[in-house]
Amino acid sequence: MRDGAVHTGIRAKLALENPFDTYVHDPARVDKQGWNSRHGFFETVIAAAQPKLVIELGVWKGMSAIHMAGLMQAQGIDGEVLAIDTFLGSSAHLSTPGRRAELLPKDGYPTLYQTFLANVHDAGMQDRIVPLPMDGNSAAYALARLGVKADLIHIDASHEYESCLADLRNYWPLLADDGILLADDYGTWPGVTRAVCQFCAEVDRPLFGTMAKAIVPKGPNQGFVMRAVKEKSYRRGAA
Ligand SMILES: C[S@@+](CC[C@H](N)C(=O)[O-])C[C@H]1O[C@@H](n2cnc3c(N)ncnc32)[C@H](O)[C@@H]1O
Repeated sequence: MRDGAVHTGIRAKLALENPFDTYVHDPARVDKQGWNSRHGFFETVIAAAQPKLVIELGVWKGMSAIHMAGLMQAQGIDGEVLAIDTFLGSSAHLSTPGRRAELLPKDGYPTLYQTFLANVHDAGMQDRIVPLPMDGNSAAYALARLGVKADLIHIDASHEYESCLADLRNYWPLLADDGILLADDYGTWPGVTRAVCQFCAEVDRPLFGTMAKAIVPKGPNQGFVMRAVKEKSYRRGAA
């Protein structure tokens, strides 16, 4: 173990191979670009949830997963992050001219996963971050069948209303009864904002939101105090 007594429970439970057993680090692939990856809410929800298991849906190059893993390490929490992504990018990487190049395709197939591995290795978080390269919908069904429950779930995959709402509905049952859901792009992407609001109405839970993140606690007695600060420079739909 590189950073103490971190358990590798979720890898064993899912019978996943450890990519870092065979991975050969390529420093040239390190690229620490992300979106909202160090948002202030992460520290708050990690401290509140004390997670043994975090599920992240929508990993990209790994920066929010690495940040959460680092916060757990700093707070002395023996927890891990199950990092779920196709590593194939989002609809915008096809519909917005020029963006497919961000996926660094090789032989016609994105190589984003190599960037993710390089970043996790560079951050020394190989024992805390367990990648699951899979589409979010299939992963949720499998995790439910395997009885996986997380203390914190970060949803940051699709930005379209219908698919974001589906993600929220699919992952809510995987959250422990006193767990916390964190939704990215609330307030910045209209489809996401609408999906989060509708979902909260469906499950009858309040949301605690700011630009780019919303906290949705599952427990009926959990709440968060917010501080409003005017943000002038925020660009809508930047991810
Ligand atoms: C905005 S990025 C995630 C950003 C990341 N959390 C960060 O902090 O930098 C969205 C990610 O969701 C992934 N994604 C989109 N739709 C998905 C799906 N249906 N299943 C799994 N991953 C998906 C994309 O591949 C992309 O990496």
